[in-house]
Amino acid sequence: MPDTDQVPFPALLQTKPPRWPHFDSALRSTAVTARIGRVLGIAFGVCFVTGLLSHYQYAPWHWLPIPAAPYWGYRLTQGLHVITGIACIPLLLLKLWSVFHRLFVWPPVRSVAHSLERGSIAVLVAASGFQLITGLFNILQFYPWPWGFIRVHYWMSWVVIGSLLLHIAVQLPAIREGLATKLVPDSRGGLSRRGVLIAGGAGVAVVAATTVGQVVPALQPIALLAPRQPRNGPLGVPVNRTAQAANVVQKARSSQYRLTVNGASMLSLSLADVEALPAITTILPISCVEGWSIQAHWRGPKLLDLVTKVGGSRSSLVSVHSLENGAYSQSSLTGSQLEQAVLATHLNDVRIPLDHGYPLRLIAPDRAGVLQTKWLTRIEVR
Ligand code: HEM
Repeated sequence: MPDTDQVPFPALLQTKPPRWPHFDSALRSTAVTARIGRVLGIAFGVCFVTGLLSHYQYAPWHWLPIPAAPYWGYRLTQGLHVITGIACIPLLLLKLWSVFHRLFVWPPVRSVAHSLERGSIAVLVAASGFQLITGLFNILQFYPWPWGFIRVHYWMSWVVIGSLLLHIAVQLPAIREGLATKLVPDSRGGLSRRGVLIAGGAGVAVVAATTVGQVVPALQPIALLAPRQPRNGPLGVPVNRTAQAANVVQKARSSQYRLTVNGASMLSLSLADVEALPAITTILPISCVEGWSIQAHWRGPKLLDLVTKVGGSRSSLVSVHSLENGAYSQSSLTGSQLEQAVLATHLNDVRIPLDHGYPLRLIAPDRAGVLQTKWLTRIEVR
């Protein structure tokens, strides 16, 4: 087997074109790149793991149901996912600035192995840029593409993390050397390498601090970059999908409304029947996949009480169905989430408004907001 590094490259690549770009900023160095890369790698890692946890909410394995504790679990992980994702945008730009010049070294391709490595770098840059930009568009609820966001975002995250791990493995010697090298001040004066890192770090910190208010209420006044102010909405809770958009206004207000519960036996309840059931109050957050979250008071009958009335138990798999049709018209729960779930008739001590799910909305701990199904009309117990 010939050593691919020994294969002579074409004559065309032996002479550097006269106008080939040349970069000579002394601010760029392996020491700077490795330090930026370290933070970027941690941010991408956190984003990947929290993204997987969020994905698990949609399709948990039946033998490992989503736990109910801590009740703020999804609030924390999805808040982290969106904040680290947003912080990755300036971090990635800074990282690319620090290695930009290396893409113009001559010759651009030195061997088969080198061209493969370049190819994997192209995949990493394209996939991570795509992932961050489409993720940002998603939290702005702007979908200028024909494909399903969730599926593409999920599979692309594996491409990003796979190509990132490969990149780290290839660059490991340079990373080690870079991290071991001190950031010596530049003798020519002006901005130093340390200054670049401090300025970059401050920029990333500002981006994170002005976004985190969508999760931490105390920081809401400075949440200038947060696409959603979590207190903006009826009764201080935001609405992602209105009753009008879901086309349920008439059905939800109809005097014919019934809640049916199907298990070993069957129940059919009018609104008055539901309102007459024993109710509890619980304090739980609505935690949106788009990163914002807010805690609220919810009151209503316990879902498990109705489940047991039709012969089910805590270990039943219960699906709740909405008056609306569409992607989020139903969700399922079991185990400790089912035990603590409430069919909310009241939000913050007021009859729950139409846009929050009147006449009845599911609320359970440690759960994605899209799975807190609104406008409930049917419950299936298996
Ligand atoms: C999405 C994330 C990343 C992207 C898009 C990216 C992109 C790049 C690019 C385009 C290069 C130049 C490659 C070449 O010369 O052919 C490079 C080099 C490098 N990257 Fe990354 N990178 C990322 C993450 C990381 C991470 C997490 C580390 C870990 C510390 C890292 C450390 C390095 C190092 C040490 C070099 C070589 C710099 C030198 O030799 O001066 N990168 N990166």
